[in-house]
Amino acid sequence: MSIATAAVPLEGAGLPELDLRSERYAADPKGVLAEALAAGPMAVSKRGVELLSYELISQAFLSEHLDTAGPEHYTKLGAGPNLLRWVDNGLLSTMARARHDPIRRLLLQALNFRNVEAQRSFVNATAQRMARPWLGKGEVDLVAEFTEYYPINVLTEMIGIPREDIPGFAEAAHELHLLAAVPMAPGLPRVEHALAELESYVRDLLDKRRAKPQDDFVSALLAAQQDQQRLTEAELVGNLVNLIFAGMGTTTKQLASAVADIVAAGEWEHLAAHPDLIGPAINESLRFSPVTQFVVRIAQDDFEFNGVAFPRGTRLLLNLLAASRDPEKFPGPDVFDLGRVVDDSRLPFGWGVHRCLGQPLARLLMEEGLRVMLANLTDVVVVERDRGPHPAEMLGGPTKLLLTFRHR
Ligand code: HEM
Repeated sequence: MSIATAAVPLEGAGLPELDLRSERYAADPKGVLAEALAAGPMAVSKRGVELLSYELISQAFLSEHLDTAGPEHYTKLGAGPNLLRWVDNGLLSTMARARHDPIRRLLLQALNFRNVEAQRSFVNATAQRMARPWLGKGEVDLVAEFTEYYPINVLTEMIGIPREDIPGFAEAAHELHLLAAVPMAPGLPRVEHALAELESYVRDLLDKRRAKPQDDFVSALLAAQQDQQRLTEAELVGNLVNLIFAGMGTTTKQLASAVADIVAAGEWEHLAAHPDLIGPAINESLRFSPVTQFVVRIAQDDFEFNGVAFPRGTRLLLNLLAASRDPEKFPGPDVFDLGRVVDDSRLPFGWGVHRCLGQPLARLLMEEGLRVMLANLTDVVVVERDRGPHPAEMLGGPTKLLLTFRHR
């Protein structure tokens, strides 16, 4: 006979505290998180309740009691009208489910695995084109001269945004990553300004495509809006802004981390000789240095989870950085191991209804970017790697990666 035990209220659960602003955390976030996880799968920080283990995070991604932060969250933080309009109509991860699901399906028409895979040789050619200017120089800041612009060049071309327009909106698209800062509120005026610029760019582009439709995804979205009314004008603009935003930042940092991880592990030449290991190397880098360090979920009602009673509105952090070092799931987690079998992507790309829409494209970009570098660079040395954003922020990874090398 099983005896039902009552869940402990969150207030009295005595969860250990995690100080994300301490000097120790800034110096060694992975070490601090490993200690916290050894003490238990949950902790509390100034951000909310932190879920640290692979198992709990896997459950949380699928829990019907948890959802992403909706518009109320941004209203409370003092978001301006542009951000609130985007959160309602374009930022897929915050939109109400009734609109989220059909719009997600529409976007998947361009970004599904089959369509993306068909672009492999184009993606490889783009990586080669963008590497050519620095291959003969013997040194490069890989972020500034390659990983920052290569993903957005591919994405824009795939969906029908002219390449020559990129410099005009790149800075504004970068500014939107202030939404990942902790705390977020101080960056909101700049986000407001950046959104105005991006919306104005996208509206101009739509006017041009309305006047002269082309065989591209932007025109296909326009047709979906005009003929079948599957998208409102605000959704059309907002989702194109979202794709531009999502195409920068994450892949940029993850590809730079992958290069730094492979060099640090002494695996560069081995990988160059065995390009069939590029996929596993990308997987291991996504685990070892995940660019998305946490995602946020809000309790939609009072609910019990892992023996604790959470009130509606509780903010939970699915700490992907901690779980990617969970020794129960990944034995010897501090070793960058090309032989490791990582059997799913629920940590780096999320899981459930909000799992990353760009996952096939992100993988393809990283694989082909790495393939081009492995084929061309030897004697690679990381001369300087900055620490990137504070490790309590959502996105991690270098913003400067200075390499020296010889052209093979
Ligand atoms: C290494 C690169 C990338 C990583 C690690 C990554 C990671 C993630 C994660 C963890 C989520 C889930 C967020 C949550 O559950 O709250 C997500 C969602 C999303 N990602 Fe990515 N991403 C990457 C690249 C991209 C690219 C290139 C695109 C665009 C083409 C993209 C578009 C999106 C979108 C639109 C969502 C929201 C999906 C939804 O709510 O339905 N991502 N990403």
